[in-house]
Amino acid sequence: MVKKNMSQTLDRSKLETLLRQEEELFHKNHPKSFELYQRARKSLYGGVPMLWMIRWAGSFPVFVKEAKGAHFTDVDGNTYVDFCLGDTGAMTGHAPEATVKAINEQIQKGITLMLPYEDVIWVGEELQRRFGLPFWQFALTATDANRFVLRMARLITGRKKILVFNYCYHGSVDETFITLDEEGTPISRPNNMGPQIDPRETTKVIEFNDIGALEIALSSGEVAAVLAEPVMTNIGIIHPDEGYHQALRELTRKYGTYLIIDETHTICTSPGGYTAAHGLQPDFLTLGKPLAGGVPAAIYGFTEEVSKAFEAKLCVEDSDVGGIGGTLAGNALSIAAMKATLQNVLTEDFYAKATKLQEQFTEGVQGVIKEFNLPWIVKQLGNRSEYWFRPNPPKNGGEAHAAVDPELDRYMHLYALNRGILMTPFHNMALISPETTKEDVDHHTKIFREAVASLF
Ligand SMILES: Cc1ncc(COP(=O)(O)O)c(C=O)c1O
Repeated sequence: MVKKNMSQTLDRSKLETLLRQEEELFHKNHPKSFELYQRARKSLYGGVPMLWMIRWAGSFPVFVKEAKGAHFTDVDGNTYVDFCLGDTGAMTGHAPEATVKAINEQIQKGITLMLPYEDVIWVGEELQRRFGLPFWQFALTATDANRFVLRMARLITGRKKILVFNYCYHGSVDETFITLDEEGTPISRPNNMGPQIDPRETTKVIEFNDIGALEIALSSGEVAAVLAEPVMTNIGIIHPDEGYHQALRELTRKYGTYLIIDETHTICTSPGGYTAAHGLQPDFLTLGKPLAGGVPAAIYGFTEEVSKAFEAKLCVEDSDVGGIGGTLAGNALSIAAMKATLQNVLTEDFYAKATKLQEQFTEGVQGVIKEFNLPWIVKQLGNRSEYWFRPNPPKNGGEAHAAVDPELDRYMHLYALNRGILMTPFHNMALISPETTKEDVDHHTKIFREAVASLF
């Protein structure tokens, strides 16, 4: 429906022509990246280390020469303001000084041992302080943290199913690749590549913000855990309705279902994520990405009650092959990087400054939307802003997905990229790093305005 509204104002054939022009400009300004891409295709599948790296707006990826703070330079000498920041992995800014110093020091003293160093206790205590949960374990990615807590929840409850929200993303956790079709029937997510098992066997899926559907889904008593972002971020920013979190907590408790809050993106809200900022009381909390300034590191925390229930079921003799953990998890290098990052980079001060600058980013976009009277919105969550090509905020994943406009999305990204701005791919999202400046934000507003002016 939204697309129909848009097509009344947006000339699609003009958009096609503009997109072609931007492609030509992109080719012209990135000859070395193109050359490297041709070479990479001979040894790397798709010419990239991770297949989704070819899903950027240009017809080949930009190869990076170096990155520092809020900026990076590509192999052709083009410079960029980075608002993508590794899709939150580099929300700390690239190569933050304190983290780099700690890495350099730790690297001389051992990288991985399967034994703890004293620093890990500081990290555990800091996580307790930030998130309010008493016990912590480590992983290398948020995907793994989610996988591990799902196993724990299933072990403790003896229940097989989990529940997720339509169009959620929690990493490559098999059970989460499930959506609702147009009739509201659960299906394996379209293009779910080689699912291990039909996710309908493992997972219930409902829309976010639907308390009635939540109660129906939990009432059968089969659901071990709800895995939720506290604010959805991967299909646009979707805030919870007033009272939704309270209902989610009450209903999960009522039906003996654990509540897992995945803070991997919502850590943009505050030093203790959305959980601390809004007093949520999850049974488990997971987080990865920016924790160690870009060094792979993730964490999962849980309550005293979970710890006791887990202990009662656990056989420590089998924990090495028990399916929870990894050899490199909690390695000395990532712990040192995490300590330095938590202590010096992801601080109260950073959040206060970044959120303020993000407000300016949001106001800049809002001003252009108003000036051109566009049926678009911009939403902010702490240090995260996003514009979306629909006239009002979606209430759930299904509504948000219906407004996806791949051509327009591609054009806005490519126009910005060609003028030195990197936005987060797959949607139009921006983060602020400790070194992003007001000039960087103003540059985005200017380019965003030019892109809009070219369209209308
Ligand atoms: C909310 C959320 N959880 C987990 C993940 C998985 O993170 P990773 O790919 O680092 O494992 C993501 C990735 O985007 C995410 O957005």
